[in-house]
Amino acid sequence: MNVARARRPHTPRSSPADRFFAPCPRGLEEALRAELQEFGIADPDVVPGGVGFRGSWRDCYRVNLLSRVASRVLWQVGHTRYRHEDDIYQAAAALHWPDWFAVRSLIRVNVSAIGSPLRSLEFITLRIKDAVCDRFRAACGERPSVDTARPDVRIHAFLTDRDATFYLDTSGDALFKRGARREVGEAPLRENLAAGILRLAGWRPDEPLFDPMCGGGTFLAEAAQIALGIAPGIGRRFGFERLAVFDAALWKQVRAEALTPPDDRPAPELHGSDVDPTALAAARANLEAAGVLDFVHLRQADFTTVEAPCRPGVLVANPPYGVRMGDVSGLRALYPRLGDALKQRFAGWRAYLFSADMELPKLIGLKASRRTPLFNGSLECRLFEYRMVAGTMRRRTDADASPGPGVETGTDR
Ligand SMILES: C[S@@+](CC[C@H](N)C(=O)[O-])C[C@H]1O[C@@H](n2cnc3c(N)ncnc32)[C@H](O)[C@@H]1O
Repeated sequence: MNVARARRPHTPRSSPADRFFAPCPRGLEEALRAELQEFGIADPDVVPGGVGFRGSWRDCYRVNLLSRVASRVLWQVGHTRYRHEDDIYQAAAALHWPDWFAVRSLIRVNVSAIGSPLRSLEFITLRIKDAVCDRFRAACGERPSVDTARPDVRIHAFLTDRDATFYLDTSGDALFKRGARREVGEAPLRENLAAGILRLAGWRPDEPLFDPMCGGGTFLAEAAQIALGIAPGIGRRFGFERLAVFDAALWKQVRAEALTPPDDRPAPELHGSDVDPTALAAARANLEAAGVLDFVHLRQADFTTVEAPCRPGVLVANPPYGVRMGDVSGLRALYPRLGDALKQRFAGWRAYLFSADMELPKLIGLKASRRTPLFNGSLECRLFEYRMVAGTMRRRTDADASPGPGVETGTDR
């Protein structure tokens, strides 16, 4: 079995070759790989659902603090081939858990699997918990307690058909929990999904951004923090702070680097609107909690009649869809009007609509230049790109009978 090197609690640094795995929403793996490369991580390895990488604890702290797309960062502490439950128990019991966290820690074990022949994941979860406790008892005569609601330390195991890999979670709460208090509007997006969509849209902080259905303002908060250079994790705690291998001095240094005021950046042009005043109140509260309210223009407006708030840039929206909100017949009436609004008032913009509804976007009357599959939890969604061409309306008026879609064609990438 491969085991991460055992380290005494006061070992200051890990090897630069520790293995980590960062899960992310499915469909954002390439976006996460690009982000990790921007952090200086060499050869990140994309697999469905996340990205593996080798790095130091400094890299691990930086990814936790800076990544907008990762859901967690897991530190690989062991790996084994298995055939039966007992193989996994034996492998887990051989790991150096008492070197990695204190016996008084409250623990939780999570197991996920793809193609495992084992009959019960619940049972194997208990067996791994037993193995960890037995290892502690042998080492110090005591065992850690379990707390599935508020654990100090999360242990993950991932099983394939014949491999079991053990991890310690260095993030604690999922990384899309940015630390700011959050007013939940209807059907809010997870922050890392919103940030990943901004990346897929190719939005840059020097371009205007408009979310005309902003709800709780998730796209706007992410965009504002990106433009202002605010690290997403600066206001929260992390699981690695509870591990015995935690290097407080290194973490202080990594945080200090992230807090260094960015160079003069252009003031971002960020605009949001929503038809619902309650949603706008939630957006205002969330933007304030994220420290960016002063950088975002908000107003109450209906997307079907709203004027473009500024020069052309990126329009991004997550319209209501049947699964979580709105009734389907109402949405069928709304979607063609969204298409008309884009055609009539957003010439020159790149528009991105994110939806789980594969049918309703067809009603919009525009040809998407790109459709990117993404998952919102287990819900399969698409990000539809529409490039609105300046001057299209005039052509369309001149040739009223033509079915001109109001978008460039042949821009699929
Ligand atoms: C799925 S939610 C958006 C959630 C948002 N992306 C977030 O993360 O919080 C859809 C939003 O569209 C708004 N909406 C529905 N119809 C609208 C319209 N005609 N004009 C503007 N906003 C509308 C709803 O009030 C709701 O806040």
